[in-house]
Amino acid sequence: MLLDNHGRQTTYLRLAVTDRCNLRCRYCMPEEGIEFAKRQELLTFEEIIFLCEVLSDLGVNKVRLTGGEPLSRKSLPQLVKSLGNIFPKMAMTTNGILLPPVLDELVGYGLNHYNLSLDTLREDRFFEITRRDDFAGTKRALDELLAKGIKTKINVVVLKGTNDDELGDFVALTQENKVDIRFIEAMPFNDDDGNHHLYLSHQEMLGRIQERFPNIERFSDEANSSSVAYRVPGFKGQVGIIPAFSRSLCGSCNRLRLTPKGTMLNCLYSTKGLELLPLLRSGIGREDLADLITEFVKGKHKTGHDTQRLEQQGSVFASMTSIGG
Ligand code: GTP
Ligand code: 5AD
Ligand code: SF4
Repeated sequence: MLLDNHGRQTTYLRLAVTDRCNLRCRYCMPEEGIEFAKRQELLTFEEIIFLCEVLSDLGVNKVRLTGGEPLSRKSLPQLVKSLGNIFPKMAMTTNGILLPPVLDELVGYGLNHYNLSLDTLREDRFFEITRRDDFAGTKRALDELLAKGIKTKINVVVLKGTNDDELGDFVALTQENKVDIRFIEAMPFNDDDGNHHLYLSHQEMLGRIQERFPNIERFSDEANSSSVAYRVPGFKGQVGIIPAFSRSLCGSCNRLRLTPKGTMLNCLYSTKGLELLPLLRSGIGREDLADLITEFVKGKHKTGHDTQRLEQQGSVFASMTSIGG
């Protein structure tokens, strides 16, 4: 069992399979991209599977594929097939553009929870935010997920002056659709000066939503959820606010992260971690690996604020894609 020194059990792996992405969201990556990992620097599928088997033996029961855009990793369905034999719960966070052709196959392997990143419902704004013109691609994925009755959440990173006038429109989507909308506090990536003035806090977002839906009410959170749940009475879907920056949910954190280059991180705000790639390439055995990970997780800090204070020296990651969000 993976227990940290603050009494939390780790049961959820966020597995970033690539740092590449087919979009260039302003709050996430610079226009020219970042220095992407070279193929030999990425964990191979065999290495990921070996590691996941060890984690499953240690009590991890949920995996979420992230990136970058996870579907830009070549042959991803093959990996999903194998992971489906290891973890009872599989989920993915994606912009959806590459999803429709592989959706049925992925669902067949047990990947049946999708968080779709979509920050605007307006086509012209999609380009402004993502620097790519493919609103239709994400919308197609959303329509297909809903039509097939697959569990779907929409992630909206809220950016002051850019999409904060759309919170009500997103909430309105939950009236007739069984979809959860989650508004995310923007985190300072891609150079703080560049975007942290875009930050809108949990309370500010709630205030905006209440202007249009004064009867929105607090709802019970899923266990270990990253979001605080709300709903408008009578609406089919829910609304959540993710305090990614204010970090009020660390007390129930059950997460462990693995970067595309094989660094294990205890927290979204970690910049130091356990470098697993060289160990895996030098043939470490299952038991030694399990012992190392068990020790590593014990050292997780109590909150993301502590992690930031104690681990980060100056800079943060160049992009969210390096750690998978
Ligand atoms: P569920 O499994 O459906 O609860 O999804 P999730 O919220 O864990 O995953 P998702 O990839 O959709 O995360 C959306 C955003 O939530 C991320 O980009 C982060 O900004 C934020 N987030 C996710 N996990 C954490 C976390 O452990 N800590 C903090 N501070 N933010 C997180
Ligand atoms: N702040 C908050 N969320 C972010 N994401 C990417 N960059 C940021 C940021 N700077 C979100 C994406 C995706 C999730 C994995 O991370 O929108 O939904
Ligand atoms: Fe967990 Fe760190 Fe996120 Fe807090 S900030 S919930 S400790 S990952």
